[in-house]
Amino acid sequence: MNRYVMCRPEHFDVVSTLNPWMDPSVPVFRSTAIEQWEQLVDLYEDLGHDVDLVQPGVGLPDMVFAANAGVAIDNRMMAAVMWSAERRPEEAHYRKHFDRSGFDEVFVPEHVNEGEGDFLFTGQVLLAGTGFRTDRRSHREAQRFFDIEVVTLQLIDPRWYHLDTALFSITPEVAVWYPGAFAPDSAAELRRRFPDGIEATEADALAFGLNSTADVRHVVMPASAGGLVMRVSDAGFAVHAIDLSELLKAGGSVKCCTLELNST
Ligand code: ARG
Repeated sequence: MNRYVMCRPEHFDVVSTLNPWMDPSVPVFRSTAIEQWEQLVDLYEDLGHDVDLVQPGVGLPDMVFAANAGVAIDNRMMAAVMWSAERRPEEAHYRKHFDRSGFDEVFVPEHVNEGEGDFLFTGQVLLAGTGFRTDRRSHREAQRFFDIEVVTLQLIDPRWYHLDTALFSITPEVAVWYPGAFAPDSAAELRRRFPDGIEATEADALAFGLNSTADVRHVVMPASAGGLVMRVSDAGFAVHAIDLSELLKAGGSVKCCTLELNST
C-alpha cells in the first residue's frame, strides 16, 4: 500500500503558458478534468492505496498537480519552493496540510524546487532534475535533509520541463525514461545506473507516457501513451491506463497529480 496526497481540480484552468503544453486559447472543460481525476483516485483506492486529499485553493488553477508540492521520504517532507509567481500561493495551502499530517519533520528549503516534479526516489537514490524549474542548489539541500545519495540530471528540452515528464521508475532497477530529454552526460549516467531500464521513444514522451506512477507490481500510465503502455506490460508489469486528457492541456498527467509519500 502506498500513501498519496492529491488535490481535486476544482479550480483547474489554463490561464498562462508556464510550459510549452499550455495554450490559454484552448478551451478547458473543468467538469471533465474532475471526472478524469476522480477515476485516477478510484483506481488508486481499488489498488489498495491510501489517498489523502488537500483542500483546493480558490484561484489556483495548477494546484491539482500535487507532485509539485514537495518530496517525502520516511515521514520527512521537504516542501516545495515554486518557480513561478502564479504557483507560489499554493505553497501555503500545501504546507498547512503537511503541518497537520503528522510528518516527523517538514523542511522548507531556500532554493526553488518543484517537489516530485523534479525529485524521484527510486527506493535507493534520489534522482533530481534541473534545467527549467528546480534550482540545482536545492539538490544539495535535499541531500542534506534526507541524507541519501542525490543524482543530478540535466534536462535540455523545454517540452520535458520536469523530471517526471521524462522518467519514472517501477522498481529500484527498472527506470523508464526518454533519453532525448537529457543532456548526454545525464543520459549516460542513467544508462549506467539502469542497465535494465526501458528507453522510451519521442512519441511515448510526447504522449506523456513517462508521467506515470508505480507500486512495484502495478503501473498507472496515461492512456494517451499506447505504445509505451504495451511495452511496459510486455515487460511483465500490470499496467492500468487512464485518460487524463483535460489535465494534459496544462502539461500534466498521472504523476503530476500524485504526491507519493515514499518510504525506504
Ligand atoms: N501547469 C503546471 C506547471 O507548469 C504543470 C505542472 C505539472 N507537474 C508535474 N509534476 N510535472 O507548473
